[in-house]
Amino acid sequence: MASGSGSNFEALVAACRGGQLAATVCQLVVNNPGCGAEQRAARLGVPCMLHDHRCYASREALDQALIASFQAAGVELVVMAGWMRIVTQALIDAYPERLINIHPSLLPSFRGAKAIEQALAAGVKLSGCTAHLVSLEVDTGTILVQAAVPVLEADSVASLAARIHAQEHRILPLAVQLAAERLDLV
Ligand code: GAR
Repeated sequence: MASGSGSNFEALVAACRGGQLAATVCQLVVNNPGCGAEQRAARLGVPCMLHDHRCYASREALDQALIASFQAAGVELVVMAGWMRIVTQALIDAYPERLINIHPSLLPSFRGAKAIEQALAAGVKLSGCTAHLVSLEVDTGTILVQAAVPVLEADSVASLAARIHAQEHRILPLAVQLAAERLDLV
């Protein structure tokens, strides 16, 4: 599931194709037409389905449509790889212990939107990223993997984001592996 540039989606595909992760990314869903993730899917040959949230009456209705897509594609585990919508209990219940989110902070610090801006504003010297199982309260749930990065004096949102992104691409495949092992999927 992706809303933006899709670099985490591509990192997962690369980990699967490169043999670091014994899995297949069988489907991408996006909610923003023409987003970078959709373009990456076309380049990588991964089937992509658009579920534009603006076309659904409620969060629940969107999630029900996502669940139907995933079930049709035989999806066993779902990754929110830069999914910028709040999900409902329906999706969480459809993929218990197998719905993973990546967030650009060391949770439980800086939950919610603009986590990188929040970290810079707080003046922390260390930040990072967290891959975790999804529960109803935003950016909570069992932490699977974290990586820390330094925050430098000269950092802008862009430079810190780039440092965090590099770590996200490393830990997200590890988190999928860990979640699968917890579930005995491997
Ligand atoms: C990532 O940094 C991810 O942690 C963040 O969106 C970015 C997506 O980048 N997710 C959130 O903030 C969710 N609350 P990408 O599209 O290049 O993978």
